[in-house]
Amino acid sequence: MIDRQRARAILAKHVGGETLLRHSETVEAAMRHLAARYGGDPDEWGAVGLLHDIDFERYPHEHCAHVRELLGAEGLPESWLRAIESHGYGIVNQVKPETDMEKALYAVDELTGLVAATAVMRPSRSVLDLEPKSVMKKWKTPAFAAGCDRNVIARGAEMLGLEVGELVAETIAGMRKAAEALGLAGTPSA
Ligand SMILES: [Fe+2]
Repeated sequence: MIDRQRARAILAKHVGGETLLRHSETVEAAMRHLAARYGGDPDEWGAVGLLHDIDFERYPHEHCAHVRELLGAEGLPESWLRAIESHGYGIVNQVKPETDMEKALYAVDELTGLVAATAVMRPSRSVLDLEPKSVMKKWKTPAFAAGCDRNVIARGAEMLGLEVGELVAETIAGMRKAAEALGLAGTPSA
């Protein structure tokens, strides 16, 4: 098991952009939380979340195809490499999410974006007082955060055996735990 510091060091080798780093940390937070629900190891699920977009900055048009090359050399377990590849299922490859960890990653990748976008639209700009119903309202507004693919999220929830609303609540709960670090704890009014 690699610790969080090592995972962050690996991430820093391949990802420099603020937005992608923030996204990686947001997915990490959601994954750590979901691990508890599914009996997984939060450190393992968190690291997979943190590293899932490892090849996106360097290979935006060959996403998920360079995971093995970049992470295999770090001595990460096969189960992690496969999990990371599987978040591109039906989008850039045919690696189907099979384990709970893989399904969770697939489900929260896009959803964290929708949750964060909903949070920062609100007066508090915080995830701490964000209710699932606010996200579900935005869920039904395709033009809002249009880049967050609702079909992928719905498919992910179904794989996990959750209603979308439940998955939203779990994702919010996970993001709350890291709200400060994610810049989603609210901004003091000027
Ligand atoms: Fe991602």
